[in-house]
Amino acid sequence: MDNLSEQIKSLRNEYSDLDLLLEDLSKNPIQQFRKWLDEAIETKIYEPNAMVLATSNNEMPRSRYVLFKNIIEDKIIFHTHYESPKALEIFSNPNVSGIFYWAEIHRQVRFQGIAKKASSKISDEYFASRPRGGQLSAWASYQSRLISSRDDVTKKIDELNEKYKNQEIPRPDFWGGFEIDIQYWEFWQGRRNRTHDRFCYTQNNSGWDIERMSP
Ligand SMILES: Cc1cc2nc3c(=O)[nH]c(=O)nc-3n(C[C@H](O)[C@H](O)[C@H](O)COP(=O)(O)O)c2cc1C
Repeated sequence: MDNLSEQIKSLRNEYSDLDLLLEDLSKNPIQQFRKWLDEAIETKIYEPNAMVLATSNNEMPRSRYVLFKNIIEDKIIFHTHYESPKALEIFSNPNVSGIFYWAEIHRQVRFQGIAKKASSKISDEYFASRPRGGQLSAWASYQSRLISSRDDVTKKIDELNEKYKNQEIPRPDFWGGFEIDIQYWEFWQGRRNRTHDRFCYTQNNSGWDIERMSP
């Protein structure tokens, strides 16, 4: 443990020669995000759709990873339990912030926006596309409640599996999507000697202002 700061020092990486220039940026941040996401997917980054989502109930900020599953009408969609802490926090304060880090290509994307429940159609379609195991576990888990053992969940899954034998599993009312309407984006490209390129997009009345930020 005494060597921790030395160990961490040895982790220091140099970033690449990739750069991010104003003239290369899309005018629309969703298009810019799609471009970077496509490149992250092509680079075979593990779970490039994993994002840290921060919520706040006005007292204490909290964050956790979620997997976003789609972009519909420029809104980022993720799915969860509607009675989970994150969902209750969103219902009480819809302001959220999110962040992606794609280490292999030295890129970070950060955003701030407003989250609300997605339509039942979006939630139904996604739920129907999940593997049966994922559908059953959505039913069986009261997300973030304390339990005494894993058996509490696996037993419930077995019971539900029996109940819905040879049947389609309906989406529970307590489970579905949220959509995030994003008003602020930041794109960070790591560069050599910490001369990172950063740009932010801020929504104005007719579109987006794009500005360079100090690293
Ligand atoms: C990579 C990764 C992806 C995750 N994706 C989701 C997700 O899409 N939806 C979800 O409800 N939880 C997801 N989780 C679990 C959450 O991080 C979290 O533990 C859970 O949702 C409870 O959060 P809450 O108590 O803040 O509501 C994911 C965890 C990891 C590590």
